Parts: sequence; C-alpha cells; structure tokens
Amino acid sequence: MRSYYMAGNWKMHKTVAESVALAKALVAGLGNCKERVMIAPAFTALSAVAEVVKGTNIILGAQNMGPELQGAHTGEISPLMLKDLGVAAVILGHSERRHSYLETDALINKKVLLALAQGLDPILCVGETLEEREAGNLEAVVGAQVKEGLKGVAASELGKVTIAYEPVWAIGTGKTATPEDADAVHAYIRKVLGGMYGDAPAKAMCIQYGGSVKPDNAAELMAKPNIDGALVGGAALKAETFAPIAMFRS
Ligand code: 13P
Repeated sequence: MRSYYMAGNWKMHKTVAESVALAKALVAGLGNCKERVMIAPAFTALSAVAEVVKGTNIILGAQNMGPELQGAHTGEISPLMLKDLGVAAVILGHSERRHSYLETDALINKKVLLALAQGLDPILCVGETLEEREAGNLEAVVGAQVKEGLKGVAASELGKVTIAYEPVWAIGTGKTATPEDADAVHAYIRKVLGGMYGDAPAKAMCIQYGGSVKPDNAAELMAKPNIDGALVGGAALKAETFAPIAMFRS
C-alpha cells in the first residue's frame, strides 16, 4: 500500500506561542499516523516549533526560501539558515508567491535547484487561475510550470521533489476541484514528467493536491490513483481539522 504525504502550510498565521501549541497538539495527535506529515510554520516560529517536533514523525518545513546562500539580500532567508534550525522541506512557487509577489518560473527554478543542492526537499507548487482554466489553457500553464520549475533537476534528484497541484481558484475559497478533475490534472502532470524523465520516475513521483482540503473531502481525494497527498492551508491551522486529514485512513 502506498503512503501519502500530508503537509500543512500555515501561511502568515500564528505567533510563536500559538505555533508551539499547535505543533504540540499535532505531535500528540499524530503519533500513530501512517502517512508522511510535514508542517510549515512562519519563519519566526520555525526555531520554537523545531524543538517540539524534534525526534517525532513530523517533518519541519518552510514556506519559502531565498534564491541565494548568503549576501546582500535584505529580507530573504537562506537555505543555510533553514537547515540550521532543522528544516528539512521547503514549499516553493506557491501561487501566493507567484501572483502577489510576482515570482517567475525562472526564480522558482533557481530556488528548487538551490534547495536540492543544500539537501532540502522542495515541494514545487503549480496551478492555473480560473481565467486560465476557462480559456482552455490549463495544460499549457501547468505543463510549463512543471517543466520550467524542474529545469536542470537531475533524474537522480527527482525522488526528493514533490509537486503540489493547487488550482488557484480553489485556494481558500471553499471550492475544491472535484476528485475527478484533480486526478485528471495530476495524470497530466505525470505525463509531462514522463516526457522529461521516463515512465518509471514519473509513476514514482509524489503529487499532492491543495485547495480547500478538509476532513470531509480528504479521503475522497486521496482515493484517486494520481493523488499522493495534500497541501493544506486553512484546515492546517487547527489540530482538530488537520489531524483527521493526516489520519484519513485511520
Ligand atoms: P486552503 O487549504 O486554505 O485552500 O489553502 C491551500 C494552500 O494554498 C496550501 O498551500
């Protein structure tokens, strides 16, 4: 039986004390979880949350990362700083970074390559806007984000990368892609990966779905053959909603 990768993106929420409380509740609630679980608090809470999840089955992730190791980059966070705190995974190219902060595929690709070189496992986010979907450009947009985001990633490194398909129109809106729609896009992403790396690595790739994942729709989404996990926003902010998502098979 395959295992799933269930990740919580806490976005710009929670003080250090609130983050520690949530992390403690998750450690208590997810001890028997069968899936790979990651939480990504705000940068300011990483250090404190690292102490809580150390030695547990919960992986510590960051929500973003600067594209350089060090230097004159005011406001940026280096992968070296993340590793220093015990961070093992990093979300890159989230649609909020692409759309609100104008991150390009080229910049995101630079971060993906740097994360891998530094031993951080990237989650590369891709997804179309409603306008792009309605104009019939879904495959072109998502395909290009996958190809550009992974440019230069060696086949030997691919297993460390996760793709998160997050349709922009489903994020924080309560609108979930139907499991069938999401699965079809995941299958398309796998086809693109197959063209780049061959069928076996494409089949082995972990592709998460994100966008209004909740306790009551997680199992239905995860049942689809091409959906290998979830990247959860709003419902990741409470143990009462994230734990049942991560434990959807229990
Ligand atoms: P919601 O679960 O709040 O829709 O957010 C999804 C997301 O953007 C996770 O990265």
